[in-house]
Amino acid sequence: MSNAQCVMRNELVPCPLSLVPFIDTHCHLEDENFSADRAEVIARAKSAGVERIINFGSTLRSSVAVAELAKNFSELYAGIGIHPEEIDDFDENTCTRLAELASDEKVVAIGEIGLDYHWEKDSERRLIQQKIFVEQLDLARQLHLPVCVHDRDAHGDTLRILQTEARDLHGVLHCYSGSLETAREVWKLGWLIGVDGPLTFKNSAKVPEVVKAAPRDMLLIETDAPYLAPVPYRGKRNEPAYVVEVAKKLAEVRCETLEEVAAYTTANAQRLYCSVRS
Ligand code: NI
Repeated sequence: MSNAQCVMRNELVPCPLSLVPFIDTHCHLEDENFSADRAEVIARAKSAGVERIINFGSTLRSSVAVAELAKNFSELYAGIGIHPEEIDDFDENTCTRLAELASDEKVVAIGEIGLDYHWEKDSERRLIQQKIFVEQLDLARQLHLPVCVHDRDAHGDTLRILQTEARDLHGVLHCYSGSLETAREVWKLGWLIGVDGPLTFKNSAKVPEVVKAAPRDMLLIETDAPYLAPVPYRGKRNEPAYVVEVAKKLAEVRCETLEEVAAYTTANAQRLYCSVRS
């Protein structure tokens, strides 16, 4: 489709809301930033067409919190795991505790787990991150759960671990920030990529290139709220309602309608996190 046709097609969609509901597939509503108005934030998401929200823990404590929130709000689901910046929280009992939490049907994933070399420069501790990442991939396998992976400045090791330790698992590289070349390897494994606020940023040269080339069934939308608010909310507290801004940008970049983006990203989320039904 030419650019002119693409613009015309999007102009045919006057309503900013899609009839198909959106799913914010990654956020942190257990965060203290939402203590005062969590119910209002969830209600605003619903009014914006965001009917399902998956919150991810990063420590044992926040994993307990997201599982608890999912029990209290019908719109919420939970992913549980130890984030690579929180490896000191991981001990020989952690996987047992996570497995107990995962017995709740609203716990739909292991995550966010992975590697973060942006904040961790020490090579020994990076090796510990890798070991804990692999242990939690094993846990996901035992529990038959999909995985949400955090990869910051660790694309090479993350891909290597997925290729060697996770070929039989399903999952997503959330807040994808790698190259198109790496993304193609990720898709070959059947893993998805998660797209959020940075797609809307002016300096996001790499991300649009990646999402343009992505097969439809390999994309999820997410906010990572309270972090990374998309334009026009950049710099403010992020919240699940704003995932619609990510979807709009995705539609623009890929020459699709908002309705189409809602339809395939929601279908992808429900396929990966199969107990998240609308
Ligand atoms: Ni996150």
